[in-house]
Amino acid sequence: MSKGFSDILVQRLARARLVMVFTGAGVSAESGIATFRDPGGMWSKFKPEELANVNAFLNNPSLVQTWYKERKRVVTEAEPNAGHLAIAAFERDFLERGLEFAVVTQNVDNLHQRAGSKNVIELHGNLARNYCYECKRDASDEEMNTASDDEPVHCVQCSGLVRPDVVWFGEQLPYQSIEDAVDAARRASVCLCIGTSAVVYPAAQIPLMAGEEGAYVAEINIEPSAIAYQIDESIQGKSGEVLPALFEAYKEAVLSSNQSINLN
Ligand code: OAD
Repeated sequence: MSKGFSDILVQRLARARLVMVFTGAGVSAESGIATFRDPGGMWSKFKPEELANVNAFLNNPSLVQTWYKERKRVVTEAEPNAGHLAIAAFERDFLERGLEFAVVTQNVDNLHQRAGSKNVIELHGNLARNYCYECKRDASDEEMNTASDDEPVHCVQCSGLVRPDVVWFGEQLPYQSIEDAVDAARRASVCLCIGTSAVVYPAAQIPLMAGEEGAYVAEINIEPSAIAYQIDESIQGKSGEVLPALFEAYKEAVLSSNQSINLN
């Protein structure tokens, strides 16, 4: 355990047919994006009930639109960090070896995709997209960028209000994302649960389900999450530091198992 993770985890990764990564805001913390519940996080400055629900939006659309416009500016200016890049490197390696890899994320910041991850299942939507609350038409960035404190953005076709494509409190998760996440959880040999407090349901059910279905579940977090004692391994550390080291250890384990196969 010199690097903070176990040999069992490394061996499980090297032998896995499908790895599922489950991420939360902590994986983007080293990119300079505030988490929700850490001290100074977003929900200590803004109350979710004031901003992240449909009633708040309908009562004060320009406030909610400008808040999301600002969040989008922050994530667009941020860069993927070493953690995002290591996750993308894992996926590339798995695909090259004819295996499967899935990133199930609660994040809406698009950083996994920008780091090169391909199979990204978004449970809570993505700030990069907007749509009309009335006619559901996709709305362009240019439209949403016109949001200002006193004039809400309306759909150019039906005059409905334009909203970000993110899941708000009280809303259902996108059906297809849940289906895909459950499928990955059921079939995963290993689940890496990264940078999430694991207190928001139904999302937090996904790594627990993976464990119930037989996956080895390990978390990487600067402190134990709400599910730390229900899983196989809790690794304490920053994802941008632990993940690159874990990827290197996994590569070595794959290499040495290939060598021993060749010798036999
Ligand atoms: P939280 O803010 O609840 O949790 C962030 C987690 O990241 C905490 O457990 C931190 O300890 C951990 N963390 C912070 N920095 C880290 C680092 N460098 N490396 C590893 N871990 C680190 O964020 P989420 O769990 O993502 O939902 O929150 C879940 C959902 O709650 C969000 O998707 C959002 C929010 O309400 C919606 O908006 C629907």
